[in-house]
Amino acid sequence: MKRLLIIGIGAGDPDHLTFQAAKAIAAADAFLLVDKGTAKSDLSRLRHDMIAAHGTPPYRIVEEDDPERDRTTPAYTAAVETWRSRRAEIYERFVRDELADGETGALLVWGDPGVYDSTLAALAEIDAEFEHEVIPGITSIAALTARHRVGLTRVGRPVHITTGRRLAAEGPTADDVLVMLDAHNSFAGAAPGHHIYWGAYLGTPDEILISGPVSEVADDIRAARADARARKGWIMDTYLLRRED
Ligand SMILES: C[S@@+](CC[C@H](N)C(=O)[O-])C[C@H]1O[C@@H](n2cnc3c(N)ncnc32)[C@H](O)[C@@H]1O
Repeated sequence: MKRLLIIGIGAGDPDHLTFQAAKAIAAADAFLLVDKGTAKSDLSRLRHDMIAAHGTPPYRIVEEDDPERDRTTPAYTAAVETWRSRRAEIYERFVRDELADGETGALLVWGDPGVYDSTLAALAEIDAEFEHEVIPGITSIAALTARHRVGLTRVGRPVHITTGRRLAAEGPTADDVLVMLDAHNSFAGAAPGHHIYWGAYLGTPDEILISGPVSEVADDIRAARADARARKGWIMDTYLLRRED
């Protein structure tokens, strides 16, 4: 039987890699790396470094370009499903053509494979015989709250995890809202009365942290975000919005 390890590698700091993840990397015969666009070289470099540090030679590395998602259509969910199916084809080829029976392949997934990541859903679509195991990773959520030295949860209270797109459409749906995948600074219009804990490139040398009342720091975040994006060509940021009692 072929085996696939879906390994969470943390959110950007090489030291986020857990011992379990390092052991899983050491156990792999072949790695599939799928990255895209301007972020590709940075994100791919971290994965290569982790494989070099923890892999057991000889191993093989297969690199594929991430399929482009159609960003022109308003049908967001359908566009994501199409993109995910194209990803599934890449995984299927990897399992079918690159792994021999009895071998172990590895996918190195940013953060934790269970948080806003399509790998597990795409693997469920593929038509190949294999067993698989998921190794949890440090999420960008944990990286954000740790760097700001705040708790994600307050005593006995819920947290809503959502996307920038939904925050813009629905506003904050809880006193504590954790927002990811926001390309449009949706906090400014949606949550002017909240406190914000914002972080970009968490865990990397480019990390930026800003916190304060949204009404006071929104412009600083907007400017820092635009500047960093222009300088590096890509950005990953996330934030916690908190309505104070
Ligand atoms: C496709 S999701 C992947 C999330 C990932 N699986 C995790 O566990 O954090 C990508 C989003 O995660 C957030 N993110 C991931 N890494 C980050 C980092 N190092 N700094 C800030 N935000 C990050 C951003 O909101 C980004 O748009």
